[in-house]
Amino acid sequence: MTATFQPHLRRDVAVVVPAAGAGVRLGGGQPKALRPLGGEPLLSRCCRNLAQAPSVGLIVIAAPKDSVEFVSSLVPSAHVVAGGATRQESVAAALAAVPAEFEIILVHDAARALTPPSLIEAVAAAVREGQEAVIPALAVVDTIKRVDEQGRVTATVDRAQLRAIQTPQGFRRGLLVKAHAAAADSHTDDAGMVEQLGAVVHTVPGHPHAFKITTPLDLVIAQALLEAGQCE
Ligand code: CTP
Ligand code: MG
Repeated sequence: MTATFQPHLRRDVAVVVPAAGAGVRLGGGQPKALRPLGGEPLLSRCCRNLAQAPSVGLIVIAAPKDSVEFVSSLVPSAHVVAGGATRQESVAAALAAVPAEFEIILVHDAARALTPPSLIEAVAAAVREGQEAVIPALAVVDTIKRVDEQGRVTATVDRAQLRAIQTPQGFRRGLLVKAHAAAADSHTDDAGMVEQLGAVVHTVPGHPHAFKITTPLDLVIAQALLEAGQCE
């Protein structure tokens, strides 16, 4: 029998993983990506989830400058470069190391260590199917208000139109490269740069487990999810 052509098994997606942050808000005296969670550094758990997504063919990690060798030994299948002073610089450094044959690029925070492979695959698939920029989005649950410098409320924002944005964020390679080259000021995500070029950014449903481990509370929540066997 002739094998059916399955484009999603091509492993045609490269993932850039910014992992060079200090983790100041988490604390603990070591880069956040190297902090253990369930006996394993956040970064290696994150990369294991990425590798389980059938589309992912290459992982390029932006590591803390003095941990490049250690990170290479931690994730031997990945290509590792030295990160920069900001997330944006780290992404740019890793992006520059992605071979030209990869037309689809995902950018994924090492700190979102419990992101399920199904979300990674959903973002990759949406780009492959023709969107040039795709980001996972979740409805906002809190009421959001705007305040002035004295902390006085100036407005209540309509929550129905707001979304909390996660990673992985997926792009056509050319668009992401152009966005990084054109970025004048600093951005907290890659879609922000792409928006400035006037490109349309599409959303797919995010996943609660793709939350960013930022504070000590987040690490406790992540640990509890693992212990409860809640992760893919
Ligand atoms: N990151 C990076 N290079 C930087 C700063 C951040 O690669 N110079 C990465 C982090 O490693 C993380 C992701 O970007 O995977 C999201 O950043 P954040 O959650 O802010 O992590 P940190 O910058 O490490 O944390 P903090 O801001 O609390 O110091
Ligand atoms: Mg940071």
